[in-house]
Amino acid sequence: MYNFLLYAHSWLRWVILVLALITIVKSFIGSRGGLTYSKSDKAISSAFVGCIHLMFLLGLGLYFTSPYAFNAFGGDTSVMKNATLRYWAVEHVFVMLVAIALISIGKAKAKRATVDQEKFKKQLIFFGLGLIVMLSRIPWTETARLFRF
Ligand code: HEM
Repeated sequence: MYNFLLYAHSWLRWVILVLALITIVKSFIGSRGGLTYSKSDKAISSAFVGCIHLMFLLGLGLYFTSPYAFNAFGGDTSVMKNATLRYWAVEHVFVMLVAIALISIGKAKAKRATVDQEKFKKQLIFFGLGLIVMLSRIPWTETARLFRF
């Protein structure tokens, strides 16, 4: 179970990053005016937010199966004093939850906006911030975690 969650969580990151780039670039162009918020814009942003929520569920599953998260607390292991454990058990989770919240708020605000340009603007701001926050807690330097086979 742990391996399935880890691989799914790992690969879904790439799907999320591609969808984030497409929807943010489109939102940037749309926020300058003159573009209609089309069915495909709605579909891509919904796919992005859907994947983010799926990531949350996979992450939650990982949190309780990974040796680096919930299981690291307890005993006499001091999570906060160990940089690796602190990263996975606290920093990664907390920062990703902030990113997920920003992206979900952006989706809700874009949905409520009545003018197309506003929809694009809300997505640009909240998805953009969410992406920056997310990028800050992906372990880019650990090559074994980049593409799992
Ligand atoms: C959209 C948000 C998220 C992204 C982009 C993301 C990305 C990642 C990436 C790239 C890894 C490394 C995977 C690997 O080793 O191949 C990872 C690991 C992990 N993630 Fe996330 N994550 C997100 C949200 C979450 C959330 C919300 C939780 C917990 C509730 C979580 C819990 C974990 C845990 C515990 C690991 C460590 C697994 C291990 O090595 O044992 N993640 N995440």
